Amino acid sequence: MTLIEQTKYEKLFSTPLFSFEVKGHETINAELIKEGKRLRDQSDGTAKSNRGGWHSKGNLLNEKAQCFSFLSVMVETAVLQSTRRISKVDPDTLDLKLFAWMNINPVGAFNSPHTHPGAHWSGVYYVSQPEVDDEKAGRIEFLDPRSDLPNWRILKASAFNLKKSLKPQPGEMVLFPSYLVHWVYPNTADDERITIAFNATFSKKSKKG
Ligand SMILES: [Fe+2]
Repeated sequence: MTLIEQTKYEKLFSTPLFSFEVKGHETINAELIKEGKRLRDQSDGTAKSNRGGWHSKGNLLNEKAQCFSFLSVMVETAVLQSTRRISKVDPDTLDLKLFAWMNINPVGAFNSPHTHPGAHWSGVYYVSQPEVDDEKAGRIEFLDPRSDLPNWRILKASAFNLKKSLKPQPGEMVLFPSYLVHWVYPNTADDERITIAFNATFSKKSKKG
């Protein structure tokens, strides 16, 4: 006779992480590389979480080149689709602000651990990811937002892993909640790693217009 029967198993407080692949990314990536390098030649960029490398200034989505309009559409599509997947609120009833920038990271450059306060979603689109033997090079790593879990390590339960890392390939995009601490392992290749990072922030629709 069974003394006790499980009636429910729920996963509480989960963190959504989405990955996308952009179809025909070779053409768009070639144009993004060309335009990115043109912008880099015009501006010293800015320093944020990047250690070494170039971080573009201002919102890339306001740039005129066609590749940036395409980028804008794909970022918006990924954000709206992911939002619909996790929420009952129709995102079209809200205003959405998107802000994107480019990171060009040569050998040795990386991004230190950070979050993007104030935004809902953050994401990264991979324009180039150099091939190297070093398995960790260029990986993006997410850290568990919970704390006080070391006593769980003995059970090796995947639900309580301290971190999760991914190595997206060119044409892939990852999307995650902006509160999630993330960082990028140094690029050890001679070629540059080029990514476009973005933040997506919803707000109540303004009455004007
Ligand atoms: Fe970031």
